[in-house]
Amino acid sequence: MSEGILSFSSNSPGPEDRLEPGDKKGVVTSRKLREDGVPDIISLRPTRFEDYVGQKESVETLKIAIQAAKLRNEPLDHILLHGPPGLGKTTVSHIIANEMGSDLTVTSGPTLEKGGDLIGILTNLGDGDILFIDEIHRIPKVVEEFLYPAMEDFAVDFVFDKGIHARSHRYRLKRFVLVGATTRVGLLSSPLRDRFGLFRTLDFYTCEELQTIIKRSAQLLETEISGQGCMELAQRSRGTPRIANRLLKRVRDFAQVRANGRVTSESVKAALSLEGIDSLGLTRLDRNYLQTIIDFYKGGPVGVEAIAATLQEETDTLVDVVEPFLLKIGLVLRTSSGRRASEEAYKHLKIKPDESR
Ligand SMILES: Nc1ncnc2c1ncn2[C@@H]1O[C@H](COP(=O)(O)OP(=O)(O)O)[C@@H](O)[C@H]1O
Ligand SMILES: [Mg+2]
Repeated sequence: MSEGILSFSSNSPGPEDRLEPGDKKGVVTSRKLREDGVPDIISLRPTRFEDYVGQKESVETLKIAIQAAKLRNEPLDHILLHGPPGLGKTTVSHIIANEMGSDLTVTSGPTLEKGGDLIGILTNLGDGDILFIDEIHRIPKVVEEFLYPAMEDFAVDFVFDKGIHARSHRYRLKRFVLVGATTRVGLLSSPLRDRFGLFRTLDFYTCEELQTIIKRSAQLLETEISGQGCMELAQRSRGTPRIANRLLKRVRDFAQVRANGRVTSESVKAALSLEGIDSLGLTRLDRNYLQTIIDFYKGGPVGVEAIAATLQEETDTLVDVVEPFLLKIGLVLRTSSGRRASEEAYKHLKIKPDESR
């Protein structure tokens, strides 16, 4: 199997995970473990739609598509999932494979460097198999061109020789389903975007939805959490399940070491202030970003590249990770001439607008 590709059956736990009668627990084994089978990750990731909280419309659309495909005994349409990191794109793709009872092959845009990398994967797919390509906007152009006929006609075209001796051979593929995930749908070329039958954008989660997720995770982690603690944690999770789960683990550590193990509102506040997370869930980077716009650029408007240069951060990090949530809660405004800090941003950072303007 080539690098960066992870292939496994959706029927978890996989056969590799089970102990054979002769195996002793705790003994190092040469048998391969499933890479995604690291207990910490797999246990919090829902494997069925019942456990997948929120995203009602997207889930409904997908459920209908899955049921219709099953009724007709056909593979699904190709699916494109869009949304900021940590909102559940990878999780959805696993659930789709589970519900369809299909095998899932996982790869990502940046690991597909040459056309051959993709062809190798495509020719190994079986009927109805699901191919998940994460960060699909980062597929190199040369590789993307192999995807067009693969998605549309289930075929790849090999070209032998060059110039006047060039011959093309069409190789038939099995009817696979492509699930693409991207944080930046705008970077996808339109021929690629148009070949997806289903396109869904995942949105940030509400505080209530995050509380449901946190409660479920706390149960799986065998941690007691108070209702108030759960709410405080949800409010500081930037609308993102991945962050909620990560912070829950930090707070759990804190409660275990500094309190009696029960997560309460006090332990949430104390643990998260150690992490540099404020009442809105903003991280140091979020606050530095706002502070830069206000201090260096008089509140804006300013281009994101200029902010990135001042902060010595990657522009992509700001656009993918920092900005979506700040835009969502209205601390940053996007105008035709750049980003602007809103009045709420000044209030949140306790800066008087006149001082810097
Ligand atoms: N709708 C959801 N319900 C419950 N947990 C979720 C949900 N979406 C995401 N999670 C949790 O958040 C984590 C990150 O989600 P993931 O699918 O990896 O995000 P993405 O691929 O969009 O970056 C998952 O491991 C899972 O535990
Ligand atoms: Mg992902």
